[in-house]
Amino acid sequence: MTRRAVVTGVGHYLPERVVPNAEFEATLDTTDEWIRSRSGIERRHFAAEGEGTSDLATKAAQAALKDAGIEIDSVDAIILATSTADLTFPSAATMVQAALGMTRGFAFDVQAVCAGFVYALANANALIASGQCDRILVIGAETFSRIMDWTDRSTCVLFGDGAGALILEAKEGQGTSDDRGILSVDLHSDGRYRDLLYVDGGVSTKTTGYLRMQGNQVFRHAVEKLAATAEAALDKASLTSSDVDWIVPHQANIRIIQGTAKKMALPMSQVVVTVQDHGNTSAASIPLAMSVGKQRGQIKEGDLLVTEAIGGGLAWGAVVLRW
Ligand code: UT7
Repeated sequence: MTRRAVVTGVGHYLPERVVPNAEFEATLDTTDEWIRSRSGIERRHFAAEGEGTSDLATKAAQAALKDAGIEIDSVDAIILATSTADLTFPSAATMVQAALGMTRGFAFDVQAVCAGFVYALANANALIASGQCDRILVIGAETFSRIMDWTDRSTCVLFGDGAGALILEAKEGQGTSDDRGILSVDLHSDGRYRDLLYVDGGVSTKTTGYLRMQGNQVFRHAVEKLAATAEAALDKASLTSSDVDWIVPHQANIRIIQGTAKKMALPMSQVVVTVQDHGNTSAASIPLAMSVGKQRGQIKEGDLLVTEAIGGGLAWGAVVLRW
């Protein structure tokens, strides 16, 4: 028998304010047509004044707990993937822990930018497989609107705010690829690419800074690396892309999503796509897509999912899981 980390609940939260592309036409030399055709984004949500990443994360977590039908004190740990924590410290995860009324266990943030949720799933899987935890709340939550340079049309039209959460629970499997739960993980980073995507502020500069991106360079790496990491993860689980029911990709750009599906020889009808409605929500995009995909009736129990992401670092990776 093998201990598997199985998804038993999922939920998400999006801030109330929806900003369509057309809103940027008033302040920037851009058009709805450019944003749609180059990125696939039509609208995004922005958090309200005073609404922090931990607030979005808490609401997504409450939805996932409700979906799983469990109380917070039955959870052993909270792992929160974010690059936009409310404060330098404490971790946003401990703020969520307090907001949920959790009086036991432990909580920490994972910072791997857009690959954060994949890294968080890898951590949760390791804690469950090793027997240290039985139940983990894994959240991706971001307020990238707070690190946008509103005069930079090449970045500020691409990102949005939001949060998604999963409950992962230890269950015994047969140790085969037919098991439910996380079946394999493939992680990478290469710090030599720092300058392609970074924030030009932080503690040592005593500023928050703004996101800076060489979009077309990141695009090139994404197309090359995402299918490769997804296929490497499938290989580790003794599976191939023909076994996959759904790709749940990081939602940065529809052209990257299409390019990755094509390289994996899978049709777009087997890809969960939310980028048109959410923009790029960094570490939140995958759990948001999982939650929306389940709500739409796309993702069902027993389906084989491969989820992949790349972002600042560069950091990238993939997880194969049976829902
Ligand atoms: O989640 C983290 C990972 N991030 C990503 O995966 C993002 C990856 N990159 C991308 O999604 C795309 O590269 C972008 C959507 C950012 C840009 O698309 P692109 O096809 O790579 O365009 P480009 O950067 O090569 O720019 C083409 C032109 C440029 O003008 P010139 O130099 O050709 O005259 C830009 O100045 O488009 C111009 N441009 C814009 N025009 C209108 C850039 N932003 C805008 C804009 N509106 N908002």
